[in-house]
Amino acid sequence: MESLVAILATVTAVNALAVPAEIEERRTASYASSWDLKEFTSLVVFGDSYSDDSRLGYFIDHEGAAPPVGWENPVNYHAATGGRVWPQYVKQYTTTSDLNVYNYAVSGAVCSNNITPRYFSAIDAPFPALAQYEIPAYIADSRYVEDDGTDFIEGAEDGRVYAFWDGTNDLGFSAFIQDEQVAGTNLTTYINCIYNQMQRVYDNGGRNFVLFNVAPLYFAPEYAAPPYDVGVNQYWLDKPKNHTQLSGRMLEQVVTVNAIFDYRTPFAVEIKKRYPGARIAVFDVHGLMTDIYNNPSEYLNGTAPLDVTGYVNRCNTTGGDCVTNPSPDSFLWYDELHPSEQAERVIARAFVNVVKGMSKWATYWSD
Ligand SMILES: *[C@@H]1O[C@H](CO)[C@@H](O)[C@H](O)[C@H]1NC(C)=O
Ligand SMILES: *[C@@H]1O[C@H](CO)[C@@H](O)[C@H](O)[C@H]1NC(C)=O
Ligand SMILES: *[C@@H]1O[C@H](CO)[C@@H](O)[C@H](O)[C@H]1NC(C)=O
Ligand SMILES: *[C@@H]1O[C@H](CO)[C@@H](O)[C@H](O)[C@H]1NC(C)=O
Repeated sequence: MESLVAILATVTAVNALAVPAEIEERRTASYASSWDLKEFTSLVVFGDSYSDDSRLGYFIDHEGAAPPVGWENPVNYHAATGGRVWPQYVKQYTTTSDLNVYNYAVSGAVCSNNITPRYFSAIDAPFPALAQYEIPAYIADSRYVEDDGTDFIEGAEDGRVYAFWDGTNDLGFSAFIQDEQVAGTNLTTYINCIYNQMQRVYDNGGRNFVLFNVAPLYFAPEYAAPPYDVGVNQYWLDKPKNHTQLSGRMLEQVVTVNAIFDYRTPFAVEIKKRYPGARIAVFDVHGLMTDIYNNPSEYLNGTAPLDVTGYVNRCNTTGGDCVTNPSPDSFLWYDELHPSEQAERVIARAFVNVVKGMSKWATYWSD
């Protein structure tokens, strides 16, 4: 077992990258103390394509209709990572119990379509969002009793963990980075939305939350600065030409939102006591992905040379003629926008430790 001194040294070195000093101190001093989950029995996920298994696929296959209450989300071996997404790996890596996973994430989703609606032609509507679709879908499922009398959502609240990972689409193209938010809204409206969605789950009984911060999107090929940038592509046909400016703007958005998450979470939980009896871990997935970027050999394991700026799957601007690199585990990114499957395995492994109350990537708060 690593000595505590060694662990603390690692934590300090890593966090020196981005986390504010007071938050870093909190992490190194007491990262386990306020998270006392007894047994991790169920995982409920809200988010976008970084987490979506097959839910957007259902909407597409059913002319925009939502899955019925009590729908079982099948495992998708060809999700946006090119393989499985992190919740499936959390299930695989959680050996203490047969974890139940309820995944409400929808590719393309934002927190609210009242802030940054993004039209999706395949369903002739905005992508289903957390506020308008994902949270209500979970709440309906949480009350759903199957024909045999068992609750659809298994496991008591005290073993249930709610993960929120959002931001990629809210901050991205057709949204904040192109100033396409609804008039009168701004980044703080977006942040309010995230805390309001946690509130709705709390009001429905939820007590254990993991709030992922926003990924380092300015490293994703879609938002990277030269020389690692990409031009017009399958996701973004009206992409602006100045990628230095674009990447800089994305960096500012991401670090600002993440700093607000760092400070607002303890304010909401411990000072305002907005969620009595709840625990919230802020998972610094931004720091973890930055660490993959800076130290790829500690995380990536493909046979080809490791590559944190390129991507696995290269398609033309209409998403055809794709060429897939034969060594996907060498990459941080699967395509212009999405993490690779290996990156999501790394995220899943870290998440399992977050839930154990012992992750150097999490800051734990509780009331
Ligand atoms: C930012 O958004 C909030 C609503 O979330 C609004 O009250 C505020 O006026 C906005 N700020 C500006 C300068 O528009
Ligand atoms: C692109 O934006 C950067 C600042 O973000 C600026 O310094 C540079 O002059 C711009 N390039 C062009 C060609 O406008
Ligand atoms: C890389 O490691 C993961 C486990 O984290 C494993 O599932 C995968 O097969 C490995 N890839 C290669 C190419 O060895
Ligand atoms: C992309 O590839 C597909 C499949 O070959 C093709 O039908 C389509 O025209 C290509 N799009 C462009 C913009 O070249």
